[in-house]
Amino acid sequence: MNVLYATSEAAPLIKTGGLADVSGALPAALRKIGIDCRVLIPGYPAVMYKLEATRQIARFDNFLDAEGKPLAARLLLSSMPGSETPLYVLDAPSAFARTGGPYQDSDGLDYLDNAHRFALLSQVAALLAGADSPVDWQPDILHCNDWQTGLAPAYLRLSGSTTPSVMTIHNLAYQGIFPPETLAESNLPASSFSIEGAEYYGNLSFLKAGLYYANHITTVSPTYAWEIQQPPLGMGMQGLLTSRQHQLSGILNGIDTNEWNPASDPHLPCEFNARALGGNNRGKKLCKLKLQEELGLEPLADAPLFGMIARMTHQKGLDLVLAVADGIIDRGGQIALLGTGEKSIEAAVLALVARHPGKVASLIGYDEGLSHRIEAGSDLFLMPSLFEPCGLNQMYSLRYGSVPIVHATGGLRDTVEDGVTGFVFNQPTPHALWLAVERALDLYAQKSAWKTLMHTGMHRDFSWEKSALAYQALYRDLSPAQT
Ligand code: ADP
Ligand code: GLC
Repeated sequence: MNVLYATSEAAPLIKTGGLADVSGALPAALRKIGIDCRVLIPGYPAVMYKLEATRQIARFDNFLDAEGKPLAARLLLSSMPGSETPLYVLDAPSAFARTGGPYQDSDGLDYLDNAHRFALLSQVAALLAGADSPVDWQPDILHCNDWQTGLAPAYLRLSGSTTPSVMTIHNLAYQGIFPPETLAESNLPASSFSIEGAEYYGNLSFLKAGLYYANHITTVSPTYAWEIQQPPLGMGMQGLLTSRQHQLSGILNGIDTNEWNPASDPHLPCEFNARALGGNNRGKKLCKLKLQEELGLEPLADAPLFGMIARMTHQKGLDLVLAVADGIIDRGGQIALLGTGEKSIEAAVLALVARHPGKVASLIGYDEGLSHRIEAGSDLFLMPSLFEPCGLNQMYSLRYGSVPIVHATGGLRDTVEDGVTGFVFNQPTPHALWLAVERALDLYAQKSAWKTLMHTGMHRDFSWEKSALAYQALYRDLSPAQT
């Protein structure tokens, strides 16, 4: 079984969020069970810089840039750093050699030609999966992820190819909606601009194209698969998703248990594991003390330390955290926040820190190492997302003995058990979060009950194997001749 996994980010090459973690780990897990899964990714500078041995395997002469001039593009073959997973890199400097991030410039503004950039990625994905591929490796399945590769199932189907495609929704809030003129620039036939196609309320939606043309749709947790079939989380796509409910499944993400392992994590000042909790638990305690030092928090071993790591967007429920923060401090707690995103949320977080020096600390920015140290050094982890397709941090938290407090939505509901591994609240309101925080603090005061909770969470298995088998079963259904 050959699978081409098309994605706009993959760790450790380039990452803005959980899609990169998944694209870094799932293909490797699929390869472990005998699937020849290969990744296609754009050649952003961060990617080109990290590539090891590369070889040019194709040149594309037919693509045009956003101004209609011929565009230089080629395909390189390499491998994911630190793994055997083959990597196809679309090297098209006019589209991808930019100084900012993968989607936005350094001021946080979307690139004006994003439609063109990701239509190009999608066209190359479809080309590699179709009969006219310039590459001598033929996928049995094209697996696309989020709106950036949403047009690929459309190109593939409209080219007459019978290669099945899978469209995975990592977050329905990002739909890749562009004005109708984009259709012609994207080389899609006019006939595809219809309600039975890529049209969405008079515009072109890259994600809708994927949801309409793909043979199967997946999303990243069973609960989210159900939630998106109705408002509000269907975000306008609920009609289409409901009509395709028999080709829609929720497969829970796993986590990379090598990258996120408190017993061997190079980012930590010291290692620890679940077994040590039975003893004096020195490793985790030292991680907490060092984190307090690093962030300028008072070095109080018994102060319950709440961690939070998130893109600072409305989705992540920062408003709720800001609303309960004073209460946490009043009860002797501390808060460590890491994230970057919307300027208004960043400013509100900085104002909170200024009000509680030594008790609340934040780093506004992106810091891989600190994200590991917060997971290891916190006692509790806040994840009150208004919605969360899967969420990875709550699973990292469980593994690192940082007990999660989560809103019962999407993957949070599917991974945290109230009173068994963490605390789950039902309504995304400050009051409901506060009641969960109070329950957590009451239990934190009971040392042995708290240890049991941590212990149970640290033993939960969220490795990728189970999810990889679910994807394998799906691929087999779609391409029964292959094994
Ligand atoms: P989402 O994809 O919606 O952002 P996830 O929980 O699935 O949410 O994944 C987020 C990933 O990005 C996690 O690996 C998390 O640790 C990481 N992350 C988010 N913000 C930061 C940050 N500021 N610094 C370091 N890592 C971050
Ligand atoms: C998205 C979602 C997140 C999910 C991640 C990986 O960014 O917001 O919940 O874990 O994709 O699938």
